[in-house]
Amino acid sequence: MRNPREELSSYTAEMSDPVSPEIEALLKEDRSFAPSEEFCRNAAVNDPDIYAKAAKDPERFWENFAKELEWIQPWSTVLEWNPPNAKWFIGGKLNISANCLDRHVRTWRRNKAAFIWEGEPGDRRTLTYFDLYRQVCQFANVLKSLGVKKGDRVALYMPLVPELAIAMLACARVGAVHSVVFGGFSAESLSDRINDATATVLVTADGGYRRGAIVPLKQVADEALEKTPSIKHVVVVKRGFGDIPVHIKEGRDHWYHRLMQDAPYDCPAEVMDAEDMLYILYTSGTTGKPKGIVHTTGGYLVGCYATTKWVFDLKEDDVYWCTADIGWVTGHSYVVYGPLANGATVVMYEGAPDWPRKDRLWEIVERHGVTVFYTAPTAIRAFMKWGTEWPAKHDLSSIRLMGSVGEPINPEAWIWYHLHIGGGRCPIVDTWWQTETGAIMITPLPGITRTKPGSATHAFPGISTEILTDKGDAVAVGGGLLAVTKPWPSMLRGIYGDPDRYVTQYWSRWGREIYFTGDGAKKDDEGYYWLLGRVDDVLNVAGHRIGTMEVESALVDHPKVAEAAVVGRTHEIKGQALAAFVTVKEGITPSEALADELKRHVAQKIGAIARPDDIIFSADLPKTRSGKIMRRLLRDIAEGKALGDTTTLADPAVVAKLKEQYESSEG
Ligand code: WT7
Repeated sequence: MRNPREELSSYTAEMSDPVSPEIEALLKEDRSFAPSEEFCRNAAVNDPDIYAKAAKDPERFWENFAKELEWIQPWSTVLEWNPPNAKWFIGGKLNISANCLDRHVRTWRRNKAAFIWEGEPGDRRTLTYFDLYRQVCQFANVLKSLGVKKGDRVALYMPLVPELAIAMLACARVGAVHSVVFGGFSAESLSDRINDATATVLVTADGGYRRGAIVPLKQVADEALEKTPSIKHVVVVKRGFGDIPVHIKEGRDHWYHRLMQDAPYDCPAEVMDAEDMLYILYTSGTTGKPKGIVHTTGGYLVGCYATTKWVFDLKEDDVYWCTADIGWVTGHSYVVYGPLANGATVVMYEGAPDWPRKDRLWEIVERHGVTVFYTAPTAIRAFMKWGTEWPAKHDLSSIRLMGSVGEPINPEAWIWYHLHIGGGRCPIVDTWWQTETGAIMITPLPGITRTKPGSATHAFPGISTEILTDKGDAVAVGGGLLAVTKPWPSMLRGIYGDPDRYVTQYWSRWGREIYFTGDGAKKDDEGYYWLLGRVDDVLNVAGHRIGTMEVESALVDHPKVAEAAVVGRTHEIKGQALAAFVTVKEGITPSEALADELKRHVAQKIGAIARPDDIIFSADLPKTRSGKIMRRLLRDIAEGKALGDTTTLADPAVVAKLKEQYESSEG
């Protein structure tokens, strides 16, 4: 077999991220696992012809799922495609909260558990569909009483508590647009997002618990609120046990439980057009500023509903657990909207997987009899490192299907997951998708697909993907850039407030009809997709998307920094780690203390997830004669690789020195 990396670079001049040893191994993977006959027999979908049927008439295929949902008024046309703008289910009217709640409470499901929640300190709550419905209606009335109207933006900055899902569904109920900001983000990240969306209400909490410590969300929010003139009201959920200090600003801040006390139960769901905005979710891109990805109501619901139903093969008695935080798109689509639209029982856990011990997740699986378990490769690699004794302490035999999401899964982790969590009996669905795609795009169907460890296998029925060369030629077998060649219901409808960037970022590489994912991928000779990581300046650290430019701007914002270049390097558990090359200003002496200060500064500016793992001080950064920083070289240095061609450098000596410095800093 040819070296996959060479193969790839011949197609993608700028597939600049080095292919890690894990990915090289992944491309040599030749094991495969077919689902058991029993699993296939009972699966939600087990007819392999479904792919061909869906491809023949994708609009009809999606329409059939739409018909399983509740519409106030049916659509007249399934799709209107004016590249790159798509409208799905034209003329259709619906409300997504009614689809997640009202539809179920009219049936026996009213008393079925919707959420089984555990807080990190050990507190537990179960909400039935009826409980959830009541509380969503009440909070919808609270939002109305605070002046929130259809189309208004509401920011949510919360720990992983049921109230976060309640607030999202309440926004959807009154037609307000939610913008969830992950609770690990900094005050500045929060205020930037609030201001970009001009949100009028912020829902937050006193705090949350993480690895035994308090995350003081309201305190961080208070700092953000100094710079957010659009916010009129702040609602504060009391999550803590009175151990989290909170300042309440009279007139602006309100306790959630006080407002809920008197809120009426009755709140009819707003009639929403299929294309009315449902939410904005910010994600990192190739520029310094995160993009507000816009999702609308009808198509998004159909996408989440269909993929949850088929990929996770949901049965009425399943106990489904997606470990993602709701602050990311995985939580939006596969903790809240997808599973609730299916009437599923969803487990939620607030805290860290190793608190108080490294078997916390397995304890939860056993306690609640989890049957479908969905997590990220970075978590699986941590479990591997902690050792098999932790899952072995628990009865995990309830699990029947497992998923992986967020980054490429290395075959070793796949096999470990299969054996030690799945007991060797459960299909694994490795699901590829993005904030922008709204729902799963490339995935096995557990009752159909023979899986290969490390491959996300095939596009979901009704989804058209291709591997393209830089010029736009389709690659039948081999590597290239992953593209989506037809519109799909849950696709993003734009970048909030920036229509031009929507076009240039996603729909310009091969013309207006083809969506560029930003990922490199390879198709093997059986047509299986193998995802190879980003080809742009976006990194994936522990399954979280981080823009190198964002971290660079945070670094140069520090008064002692002159210039910074951030690259990713392979990391055993996190997939990628952040290496920052920094030049300091005249008269400043680099030191270990300064490196720590810079790491803290980035965490303070963006959030702990963006804290650089390495800071490498350098007198200069390697640049081309035209002044562009040569990131590829920096990556090679950070990876400890042999350096390639440096002849295009303005000053080749810079690199040799840097490499030397990097190696000595590693000790
Ligand atoms: C990027 C999207 C949508 C899930 C959470 C991340 C990478 C995601 C996989 C996978 C290989 C994957 C891609 C993608 N990614 N899932 N199964 N195999 N890579 O959403 O933050 O929008 O990041 O995550 O690089 O572009 P996101």
